[in-house]
Amino acid sequence: MTTYITTPIYYVNAQPHLGHAYTTIVADTYARFRRLAGDTVRFQTGTDEHGDKIAEAAAKDGVSPQEYVDRISAMFRESWPALDIVPDNFIRTTDADHVATVQKILQQVYDKGDIYFDKYTGLYCTGCERFLTEKELVDGKCPDHQTVPEEITEQNYFFRMSRYQQDLIDHIHANPEFITPERYRNEVLSFLSEPLEDLCISRPTSRLTWGIPLPFDDSFVTYVWFDALINYLTGIGYPDSDIFQRYWDVAEHVIAKDILKPHAIYWPTMILSMGLPLYKKLHVHGYWNVDETKMSKSIGNVVRPAELVAEFGVDCLRYFTLREMSFGLDSSFSADAIVARRNSDLANDLGNLFSRSTAMLNKYTAGVVPAPVATEDDTVLSAKAASLVETYRQSMGDFQFHRALASIWELISLANKYIVSNEPWALANDPEREQRLHTVLYNLHETLRLLTLLLQPVMPGICREMAKGLGIAEGDPLVTSLDTAAWGALLPGTKLVKIDALFPRMETRKKQQAPQQKKKQKKKKKSAQKTENMEGLITFDQFQDLELRVAEIVAAEAIKKSDRLLKLTVKAPEERTIVAGIAEYYKPEEIVGQQVLIVANLKPVKLMGVESQGMVLAAKVEEGGSSRLVLSAVSAPVPAGAKVA
Ligand code: MSP
Repeated sequence: MTTYITTPIYYVNAQPHLGHAYTTIVADTYARFRRLAGDTVRFQTGTDEHGDKIAEAAAKDGVSPQEYVDRISAMFRESWPALDIVPDNFIRTTDADHVATVQKILQQVYDKGDIYFDKYTGLYCTGCERFLTEKELVDGKCPDHQTVPEEITEQNYFFRMSRYQQDLIDHIHANPEFITPERYRNEVLSFLSEPLEDLCISRPTSRLTWGIPLPFDDSFVTYVWFDALINYLTGIGYPDSDIFQRYWDVAEHVIAKDILKPHAIYWPTMILSMGLPLYKKLHVHGYWNVDETKMSKSIGNVVRPAELVAEFGVDCLRYFTLREMSFGLDSSFSADAIVARRNSDLANDLGNLFSRSTAMLNKYTAGVVPAPVATEDDTVLSAKAASLVETYRQSMGDFQFHRALASIWELISLANKYIVSNEPWALANDPEREQRLHTVLYNLHETLRLLTLLLQPVMPGICREMAKGLGIAEGDPLVTSLDTAAWGALLPGTKLVKIDALFPRMETRKKQQAPQQKKKQKKKKKSAQKTENMEGLITFDQFQDLELRVAEIVAAEAIKKSDRLLKLTVKAPEERTIVAGIAEYYKPEEIVGQQVLIVANLKPVKLMGVESQGMVLAAKVEEGGSSRLVLSAVSAPVPAGAKVA
């Protein structure tokens, strides 16, 4: 199979920001996923360099348009490797082959009678670089630029878009996946339910010279959208190259909702006029806002990907954007959200699973993957892995990256529980249970191998590290081909390699630190690394994440229909409700007034319909085959809410 995936070509009037980065990360991730699935893939991005906006930006900068576009285009091109984005082709609309292709297509469409000359009066928005219809205006202004469009009368060339309206409608109905998600397909169909106006595709050189001259009238240049959309064809060598033959039928475009109309209406009608088959799919995503506000230069909240990479690392940025945004819907970026994902999903869940498992393999089997026992009836991880691979293929193929990642994290959390419930450290102390130990360790290693394989499109950098740590050579199909996704593909005998912690934890968003503080942190990291190598143990950093406090029970009552649970109201120092499984051992009235220890920073959970905002600590006493709980206490009364250090 072949895949051709494209991003929009970005305007060079601004530097790359989180929005551009997201679309390009999506396309890169999809390209990597399709390669993992065995496809031959071509991935293209680039820059859109003609038009009023660019000419204006260059004039403002006091340089020639060419000088200006060379500079900003290079910024885009150079920003991608830092995000582990590896396009096969970077196209510029000022490239000579693109100019030639646009002119060839214009001539072809003109000769066919689909371009005509006419007078036109309309409302022109310079920001959008197009005439707006009355309907599109909000309070007389362009909704995107908040400016009143200018009324312009011009003689211009028009493309007979209306001629292809019905063919396009029929195509959308016959191909439900042509535009996804569905909400955007519906939006396009609703737009197409009204008669389409023809598209003005020229600008007189008296007004604009920075564009591609029309081949049949050099007193006009080409409207920037007619020029830009053709990049998808130029980039694969339309019309003569083999690459074009191989890739055009499978073209998939990724865009955000802002440029739906040019891609879902102008472009397909242009393609139909050219007599080509339509592209395969248009994938439309929502907008990134920042702290719930629109990202904009004037507000000063533009998020730069390079700064995020410097602070959080490229894998974290890629993971965060793909996990956090549901493809198609808007999402809000915040520094706290990225720190939280990094600490909880990456450092805690994935990083810990990796370090604990590999530390045990190093300790108990000298870093060599042992053979599992074939008869062992232990399918917890293998069964989960099998269903995960199915969901993964489906979700990644459908651009449901957040869903694919959520399923991967289910396996990670199951594997972390698997360690706790199988207690490999106890198995290692019992020579009779060595085979069981080997099975458990094999299963953990195989889980890590699968995770490395499946996460590779999203976090290629960290996966290279993980593969190395697992003793798997770079490029080995075990971590680069979904053909090896079946459980058990990894052969025993593989030798692990020691690597650094994958995601060292971050306290909060990095602030400028005093040297004294830095020293302290270094010391802390060192001691944390020391303990990390001992399986079953947690690090000091992990312990510090727990917030333990003294709480005073001010009220207690039984929870209906539960023999086990009491609803406690505690002061710590603020009042909160905690549901505790102590009803078999304590009557509500006998504990009111007691001071107990609680975990104060647990995520609230609902138990029997009551939200519990923490957990009470108690000793579990095992006696004669049964157990009971004895509440924790402090040896002398203290103010409610006192921290337990
Ligand atoms: N040059 C045209 C596209 C021509 S394609 C033939 C253009 N360029 S742009 O620089 O404005 O890029 C728009 C695209 O950048 C969006 O469709 C999206 O891919 C990305 N994003 C820009 N801002 C964004 C957000 N705030 N959020 C998400 N993506 C956004 O339009």
